[in-house]
Amino acid sequence: MNKDTKIYIAGHKGMVGSAIWRNLTAKGYTNLLGVSSSELDLRNQQAVSNFITDEKPEVIIDAAARVGGILANSNYPYQFIMENMQIQNNLIDSALKSGVEKFIFLGSSCIYPKLAPQPLKEEYLLTDTLEPTNEWYAIAKITGIKACEAIRKQFGKDYVSLMPTNLFGTHDNFDLNTSHVLPAMLRKFHEAKENKHAPVTLWGSGTPRREFLFVDDMAQSVLFALENKLPESLYNVGTGEDITIKHLAETIQKITGHQGEIIWDATKPDGTPRKLMDISKMHDLGWKHQVNLEEGIQKTYDWFLENIERFKEVKM
Ligand SMILES: NC(=O)c1ccc[n+]([C@@H]2O[C@H](COP(=O)([O-])OP(=O)(O)OC[C@H]3O[C@@H](n4cnc5c(N)ncnc54)[C@H](OP(=O)(O)O)[C@@H]3O)[C@@H](O)[C@H]2O)c1
Repeated sequence: MNKDTKIYIAGHKGMVGSAIWRNLTAKGYTNLLGVSSSELDLRNQQAVSNFITDEKPEVIIDAAARVGGILANSNYPYQFIMENMQIQNNLIDSALKSGVEKFIFLGSSCIYPKLAPQPLKEEYLLTDTLEPTNEWYAIAKITGIKACEAIRKQFGKDYVSLMPTNLFGTHDNFDLNTSHVLPAMLRKFHEAKENKHAPVTLWGSGTPRREFLFVDDMAQSVLFALENKLPESLYNVGTGEDITIKHLAETIQKITGHQGEIIWDATKPDGTPRKLMDISKMHDLGWKHQVNLEEGIQKTYDWFLENIERFKEVKM
């Protein structure tokens, strides 16, 4: 891949897209293209088609999506299924019609069936029913994977899908109403420390196991897919290791310097007991994550502290 290849990163201002931008720039890529949603609404088919025809990117990386937690998914099922399909369909179809040879599509581990065996292998896709709380989002993502697979099969182009595990890192969402578990805990422990080491109450028993990947490692997997023609159409991306939520809480407590009590509110649901990706396919090809969990949390906390002013404005 030439360093001046024109690469369009859709969603380049998001947590994942900005990490991809940062990592590609650091690797010497000089011809990156990004537009925010206010300049180009990816739900608008004609606008996307015009943009791709005019700009003629050689590669497209799709890190744009309507994302959200259980609450947002259950309140806005139509937006989650339709907007995600619109965004990815417009990008994938315009890419194909404009002769884009390489397309990297990002999904999520929620595409796998609710009761699939652990660790989750790529071949478990569409073998059983999905987790109902986020099936809208998952079904949209599955159609994106299948569209890329169909293009690969029918036209022989390098359209590939990467499925990341839970991601965290700089530019994460720290709004306690909508954030994921790791940034939410970071913020809670930090604020409790500032509040004379007040106790921190966390949901559930702390026993479920989860896998976390630092977002720059995710970006490195995209770089790997960019610089290599991966032989199959779907790959999981993660660390291959999971930890209990309790262990996660204790790690974050240590990093933030909180010295108060942790209270586990067992009246709140635990969610699924375990969620771990099988990442042997990516490992076999030669990609492996580099940042361990503690190091990643420390970098995320440093970034949170550097940007603390902006979070003060977020209503808790
Ligand atoms: N975060 C995770 O833990 C995680 C885990 C697994 C997979 N992923 C996947 O990674 C991808 C990116 O996630 P993220 O966490 O980076 O999300 P994010 O921070 O919310 O970023 C999403 C990006 O999508 C863009 N976007 C949304 N709707 C758009 C529209 N209608 N038109 C144009 N742009 C639009 C936004 O652009 P503006 O900023 O310009 O509005 C934003 O930059 C998603 O496909 C997600 O499924 C994330």
